[in-house]
Amino acid sequence: MTNAYRQNISIFLTAWLSLTLCGTTFAFDVIQALPAQPLFPGDNPSTAAKIELGKQLFFDPRLSIDGRFSCNVCHNLAAGGDDDGAVGRISQQRLNRSAPTLWNVSHMSTYYWDARARSLEEQATDHLLDPRVMAMGTADALVQRLNQIAGYRQAFAGAFNENVSGKGAISMPNIAKAIAAFERTLVTPNSAFDRYVKGDKKAISESAQRGFKLFDDTGCLSCHFGVNFAGPAPGPALNMGDGFYELFPNHLGSRYDEKYDLASDIGRYQVTLDERHKYMWRVPGLRNIELTAPYFHNGKVASLDEAVRIMALTQLKTEFNQQQVNDVVAFLKTLTGEIPSITLPRLPETEGLSLMVGNDSAAK
Ligand code: HEC
Ligand code: HEC
Repeated sequence: MTNAYRQNISIFLTAWLSLTLCGTTFAFDVIQALPAQPLFPGDNPSTAAKIELGKQLFFDPRLSIDGRFSCNVCHNLAAGGDDDGAVGRISQQRLNRSAPTLWNVSHMSTYYWDARARSLEEQATDHLLDPRVMAMGTADALVQRLNQIAGYRQAFAGAFNENVSGKGAISMPNIAKAIAAFERTLVTPNSAFDRYVKGDKKAISESAQRGFKLFDDTGCLSCHFGVNFAGPAPGPALNMGDGFYELFPNHLGSRYDEKYDLASDIGRYQVTLDERHKYMWRVPGLRNIELTAPYFHNGKVASLDEAVRIMALTQLKTEFNQQQVNDVVAFLKTLTGEIPSITLPRLPETEGLSLMVGNDSAAK
């Protein structure tokens, strides 16, 4: 058993205890309005220049091997920040997992459905090299490509305080840091539920209030608590990089396993090869959940109603009636925050070429 795993269990128990002991008055971070700002890691302070550069990189298709896919293709910030096409795809290769939302992603302590990346920086590096995602192959290939673009040489030098004439500023760690700095700005504050938690009792409907009570009474909250309803956010209760995992399906063998193929991907086991991690998954956040269908790691469940029915049965062995489903869904919809408007960045030109890498007809 790894230390992280042991620690997670004890954190789960602490949270569970504080919940049961406190009844409806919630202890520490079991229920929290979304803070205006996430924690910033000491080795990657956020600056305006770095965030702006990260935004350019996020929208730039030249970060993928064939120049066709920007990050935004699978994490559409004009929508839920996720991929509505069930599973992401690049270079004709379908991915086996759904692309999660990037809204409020900075409040997670690990990344991916199976929590295999320990920070946003590590996650971005992994994606850029992953042959199924950006497929850049090697860090050198990407660094070389960006170094050909004068606008990026300047922007990296500015963001990382390097000498403009030197090429040192463009490096894989700095590319990842800039992208992560931009991702940390993707927050959706002031949801109806946040206003409710801060004392505006009329901010959510009676149905949503019943739904929240049911969410607590039946035990959803024992896994989905905290800032993102994904367990503890990085901070005193959980270090960045340590995950909060749970079994899914918690009760194997329900009618949903086969219907939605819930049991063929065994989750975190594939990362750790630890028998106890079979069917372990990171508890996902629930903010903006109404915007991020289809649901679950395989993106096979189209409606939020059905996702709630499945969770009740697979996790808690409970059958919700239609009224209960409606109430819980009404509550979940109060978790939709204010999506900030994002202006598209100007992308620096590749001299003499269109943005499309490898498009011969573009070189004129
Ligand atoms: C081809 C589609 C695709 C593209 C392009 C893509 N992603 Fe992803 N992204 C995914 C998928 C699928 C996952 C989930 C994979 C998993 O959990 O195994 C994911 C996961 C993530 C996560 C983890 C979110 C979480 O809550 O755990 C982050 C952060 C992320 N991507 C950022 C980016 C960035 C930054 C880029 C551009 C460099 C990018 N993505 C490009 C498909 C894509
Ligand atoms: C034992 C822990 C646990 C309990 C209890 C639990 N969940 Fe979950 N929930 C999870 C995990 C783990 C996942 C991710 C499953 C996967 O891998 O797709 C999840 C996924 C979800 C999703 C889909 C998220 C997405 O982005 O696709 C929703 C919605 C959800 N839960 C709502 C609920 C509701 C409502 C309840 C109570 C009826 C509940 N959960 C109870 C652990 C739990």
